[in-house]
Amino acid sequence: MSMKGKLGYSILAMSIGAVLASYSVAQMSTDKYSRPAMTAAKGAVLNDKGETSIPEGFRLWSFIGAPLTPNGLNDGAAGFPEFHHVYIQPEALQEYLETGVFPEGTTIVKELVLLQEGEYEDGSRDEPSGRGFFADRFAGIDMMVKDSEKFAETNGWGFYNFGHKEPPYATVASPAPADSCAGCHMANADFDMVFRRMYPILKEK
Ligand code: HEC
Repeated sequence: MSMKGKLGYSILAMSIGAVLASYSVAQMSTDKYSRPAMTAAKGAVLNDKGETSIPEGFRLWSFIGAPLTPNGLNDGAAGFPEFHHVYIQPEALQEYLETGVFPEGTTIVKELVLLQEGEYEDGSRDEPSGRGFFADRFAGIDMMVKDSEKFAETNGWGFYNFGHKEPPYATVASPAPADSCAGCHMANADFDMVFRRMYPILKEK
């Protein structure tokens, strides 16, 4: 092979190498980032007794709002302290935004989050952004799952409590009795058992 031929061959080899290298980097990064997203796409899975677990990766779902009931404004002991970080499965949200209906299997997780220590009686504190309430640590999970057949008596939703305390949370929960959860939602929620009025993105529909 002439010098010129050799050079041409090695340039070709180098560029094939570069293409292969960039392909495998792309593969690696898709794997790394798509796996949790794929897990996160699944809502809660119920067994035949209606028991279920906290869906893996729910914190990567769509975050729809953060109602706040600080202990400092609720005699030191709010029923649901304090921020309520609310997540919904992205597919369910998309379908809701298209059709105005929560599809069967819709799973909504509400994670309780305690505040940073207050400096004032109402539990608020000063931060560079202003006086207010600032999240500190996770402290509990409540969840609702739509299954119109299984939960016909509670307007088609099952309610689950995995503990109102810091993690680790309960790994399995049974459907909660109607008077501890569903009753209040039946009486007070404004759209299909959900407090839609609290969530700007749900109100768009
Ligand atoms: C006394 C009334 C009441 C009871 C009892 C109650 N909830 Fe709720 N729940 C609310 C209100 C009001 C909201 C929305 C505002 C907020 O989070 O403060 C809400 C929000 C939720 C949400 C987020 C979706 C939505 O509808 O806004 C979930 C999930 C949830 N509750 C689950 C539960 C579970 C599980 C229980 C039982 C352990 C329970 N709730 C008991 C009043 C109640």
